[in-house]
Amino acid sequence: MYILGMESSCDETSAAVVEMGDGVRAIRSNIVASQIETHRLYGGVVPEIASRAHVEAISRITYEALAEAGIGVKDLGAVAVTSHPGLIGALLVGVNFAKSLAYSRKIPLVPVNHIHGHVAAAYLSHPTLEPPFLALVVSGGHTSFYLVKDYTDFCEIGGTRDDAAGEAFDKIGRVIGLPYPGGAALDKLAYEGDPKAIALPSPALGKDTLDLSFSGIKTATLNYLNGMAQRKEEINRADVAASYTHRIVTAITQKTEAAIRESGMKTLVLAGGVAANSHLRASLEQLCARLKVTLCMPERALCGDNGAMIAAAGYFGFLKGDLADTSLNASACDDL
Ligand code: KG4
Ligand code: ZN
Repeated sequence: MYILGMESSCDETSAAVVEMGDGVRAIRSNIVASQIETHRLYGGVVPEIASRAHVEAISRITYEALAEAGIGVKDLGAVAVTSHPGLIGALLVGVNFAKSLAYSRKIPLVPVNHIHGHVAAAYLSHPTLEPPFLALVVSGGHTSFYLVKDYTDFCEIGGTRDDAAGEAFDKIGRVIGLPYPGGAALDKLAYEGDPKAIALPSPALGKDTLDLSFSGIKTATLNYLNGMAQRKEEINRADVAASYTHRIVTAITQKTEAAIRESGMKTLVLAGGVAANSHLRASLEQLCARLKVTLCMPERALCGDNGAMIAAAGYFGFLKGDLADTSLNASACDDL
């Protein structure tokens, strides 16, 4: 069946057509209208501007997604939409558009948790992947471990107690003068520096927990940068990028090893925008090879926010009968 997936939880408006069925997991189109250039001016996402930009883009990209897939609205078996979590004003644009489309054309409507969407991107990149598995979702808003017991059954077993890894990368990227969002630029710059140059605290919390905390390393890095500025010493941005990235990646890898051992899972899915980080990908590849665990990472184009991942997750929600009607609302929180 064809599913239209709609995503508008943050700064990307996306519509995609995905074909799902027995032995079929195919992306027919995946149109992403990014607002990054608009928000770059402010050094971060401005929620009100994001909502307006979603309104301006959503009809056009939905037409484009259908046209590129070569189908009409009548061919859709379901409309899936991100209903939570995210920026409330931004989410409401996608939810109301999807509700109107589904109601007017009598198509089943499936609400999708954005995080479940990120994990579902792995089903598209790895056609034989099926639960149960351990998932690590690392994005601008989340850094969490989930036991994915079934396609729609997620149990969080650990993660950050404060900031997300993506936010931590973006923050320090901005402070050292990289363009927003700093994550991808920091990833590249880290290759040019010494990962041992600056001593920073580890974001990994104690041995008896799978939790992490990124606020300490952020503050320590800011203190280091401020101290250097006060002493009028020049900073080596590449060393900052390398040391910071190394500490974060090492801590995430350490907790991933603990999560694998504790859960006994033989498959790890890495998902979310930060899953595009080349240092993290390489570190988890090494870890999984050592532990003889299968690592499934969506291709980079599917790591960031996109409609195809929402359509894939929506398919499994549809099969389970998790449908919504016109009373569907959006929620900024992890629960609807
Ligand atoms: O999943 P996503 O597109 O949006 C949220 O759901 O938050 O993730 C966006 C985050 C941003 O913080 C961005 O800087 C980060 O993913 N990101 C990266 C890389 N590419 C994107 N972080 C580190 N390295 C990258 N290569
Ligand atoms: Zn996301």
